[in-house]
Amino acid sequence: MSFSNKKIQQGLEEFVASTQQIPYSPVAFEKGRGAILFDHDGKRYIDFLSSASSSNLGHGNEEIAKAVYEQMLNLTQYTLAYFNTSAPIELAKKLCEITPIKGEKKVLFSTTGSASIDASIKLARAYTKRSKIISMIGAYHGSTYGAITASALSLNMRRKIGPLLPDFYHFRYPDKNNSWQDCIKDIRDAFSMYLPPEEVAAILIEPISGDMGLVDPPREWLVALREICDEYGIVLVCDEIQLALSRTGKWFALENFGVEADLYVMGKSVGGGLPLGAVIGRKDIMESLDAPAHLFTMAANATVCVAGLKNLEIMERMDTNKLSVEKGDYLKKKFEVLREKFDFIGDIRGYGLSIGVDIIDPQTGEKNPNATAKICYECFKRGLILIFLNQATLRVQPPLVIEYEEMDEAMNILEGVMNDYSNGKIGDEVLSEIKGW
Ligand SMILES: Cc1ncc(COP(=O)(O)O)c(C=O)c1O
Repeated sequence: MSFSNKKIQQGLEEFVASTQQIPYSPVAFEKGRGAILFDHDGKRYIDFLSSASSSNLGHGNEEIAKAVYEQMLNLTQYTLAYFNTSAPIELAKKLCEITPIKGEKKVLFSTTGSASIDASIKLARAYTKRSKIISMIGAYHGSTYGAITASALSLNMRRKIGPLLPDFYHFRYPDKNNSWQDCIKDIRDAFSMYLPPEEVAAILIEPISGDMGLVDPPREWLVALREICDEYGIVLVCDEIQLALSRTGKWFALENFGVEADLYVMGKSVGGGLPLGAVIGRKDIMESLDAPAHLFTMAANATVCVAGLKNLEIMERMDTNKLSVEKGDYLKKKFEVLREKFDFIGDIRGYGLSIGVDIIDPQTGEKNPNATAKICYECFKRGLILIFLNQATLRVQPPLVIEYEEMDEAMNILEGVMNDYSNGKIGDEVLSEIKGW
């Protein structure tokens, strides 16, 4: 049976529940190498998304594929819920080594990032013997009940599915409209009026607010949150699912700010392309739950962990932290050159190869969702996978192995698209096809 993009799209609409996908373009990928993808119609693309920042080493990595093949032949998996295999233990040790917590640490595995957010909520509640959880407006933490309750980014993540978990409180994340001082004041005011701090188990943050548009907070906000946590015995949980493992030029994004969390939550890239989530944290907190309060038959099985180990080995060997910074600087400069030419490019920000670029209305400086959607739509057509967040921020997160020539090629595509957009050559009809968040 031969597949085409169209046939696969029809299959999606007929057989897959619509909540499974945020639609951007009816493209179906067939194969990939590094930062290059091919769809089922044979069209080539440069990937600026890395499968939502989950393929940091790019596509079709032969070393990982070989390690997975050998492990599957030997023993595909045996559940860690009852017995040991060596790979999860080795991976846990390695993750403890790279996690920037002073003192003893331990790891708790899950099958996804979302489930690991739930793990962090359970751990914080068990350790503190308190129930209340603070998270931020604009956060995306995932789809399980704990993670979705902590999120506050989309009404569709609330509608029809309630009641959600009790005792969650959302506060403002600092951005250009909200100073870090005001954001901290909100929490301190709440602590004096309606939210007893001695009942708060955790403050859950994204070190850079990913799906809200890669908004990086001032360091002072993170320092102040750390101080609040220390003052009241609250667990500081850092969601690193999108940004850990070199995406921002460090193993963990929070390291860019010189602040230490108590629990770090990982997902996406940690499994080297296979499904895995993990919480790495202070040993005393990690020891506060008893089995089986958080175990999954398939979590951290031998094959997934072999992929995760090989992924880390390759990253260390390639020095992906350094690569991420160098390539990120290169791309940011290219965007700055484009901004000289196009007045609808607003703020350009980011760490390493995680860059947010705002598309604005040059008259008002406000975000311009229609322009952004048109630009992304046209990029797909011309062979560049580039999506937007929060209506008007381009999400630039290519695989860390992207070649310089590929970045040049991608930026040439983008410049051509922006030229056509500014000359009114991209019609409004495309807006009915591209939806996004
Ligand atoms: C910051 C952040 N947290 C949590 C999640 C949820 O991870 P998963 O989809 O692996 O469950 C995501 C996924 O997009 C994310 O970006």
